[in-house]
Amino acid sequence: MTSNAANTQSLLPVRIAGTGSYVPKKILTNHDLEKMVETSDDWITSRTGIKERHIAAKDEFTSHMATHAANRALEQAGLQGEDLDLIIVATITPDTLTPATACYVQQSLGANRAIAFDISAACSGFLYALEFARVAIAAGSVKTALIIGAEKLSAFVNWTDRDTCVLFGDGAGAAVLSAQKNDSDTGKILSSHLGTDGKQTAILNIPGGGSACPITLQNAEQHLAALSMQGREVFKCAVNAMRQASEIAIEKAGLTSEDIDLVIPHQANLRIIDAITDRLKISKDRVFINLDKYGNTSAAAVAIALDEATRSDAVKPGDRILLVAFGAGLTWASAVIEW
Ligand code: UT7
Repeated sequence: MTSNAANTQSLLPVRIAGTGSYVPKKILTNHDLEKMVETSDDWITSRTGIKERHIAAKDEFTSHMATHAANRALEQAGLQGEDLDLIIVATITPDTLTPATACYVQQSLGANRAIAFDISAACSGFLYALEFARVAIAAGSVKTALIIGAEKLSAFVNWTDRDTCVLFGDGAGAAVLSAQKNDSDTGKILSSHLGTDGKQTAILNIPGGGSACPITLQNAEQHLAALSMQGREVFKCAVNAMRQASEIAIEKAGLTSEDIDLVIPHQANLRIIDAITDRLKISKDRVFINLDKYGNTSAAAVAIALDEATRSDAVKPGDRILLVAFGAGLTWASAVIEW
């Protein structure tokens, strides 16, 4: 099922007024993983492109990383927590099942006026948050929104399973959204597109820890609260869904793939990214990659990459950026932004 809700033409234009990101200090390299499971730097690098990932400390939670990223986005936007009307945290690794991680973030930012809640759309979550915050601003129901993709995936990985433990990392990225007031304002959201396929819940999930399968003394050792993935199936679906989502967002923006200056894709696997951009006929120098440093940080991946890209010389004023993501659900999402 896909959504056509993102018809930006009929609503107020919305922009990204600031971005921020944060990754924890500790780095776990492929060579470190060689000592933990039967794997090699060569296998991980050639099959995924990942070289290292950042791992949060025991007492560093998703909300802490989200708050660091949010403070940087607020600073760039010239705003403070109390200016926010809405906070959405996209995460599959919340601090607690309830309340939402966004509530902890609201408290730590002193964003007392903001309503706050989480979105669970896996790796597409940041772009789902972008679209729902955009619509809320465009419709005039809120003025200023903070969206965050934040994950502590290291807490939901089976560190004895080489199929998954080499893939994931921790971190957070954030963006502040507001209405576009002047033509010279940067970060205008030109289009977006969301999609879901609930028939494929089994190929990528965390089976335990919810109401369907609570963790008990009896099943505690089966790693049920860890990510489980049928990698090859997910790979194929990711390529198809992200290519299609890209084409739809580009078309909705009234552009062609030649008009896209930079693609910021979900950072799961370099081979997936190459397959999509080859099909879109977008050259490699127009693709932003940071998965070598961070691995797959799920909802945080596009958000961190957006912050890094726009703070670097990879993005110039007026550039058109395609954001595209894919994850468990299955979910997929895309957006085109004029910087
Ligand atoms: O973020 C949400 C979306 N997620 C994704 O998009 C991930 C999509 N999937 C993938 O990126 C890839 O499927 C993986 C990176 C997960 C796996 O790569 P693959 O090329 O699909 O490998 P495979 O699962 O087909 O496994 C190939 C071989 C197997 O050995 P045999 O059966 O050929 O003897 C695996 O047992 O590689 C083996 N293998 C490993 N070897 C060394 C699997 N994991 C490892 C490992 N180190 N860590």
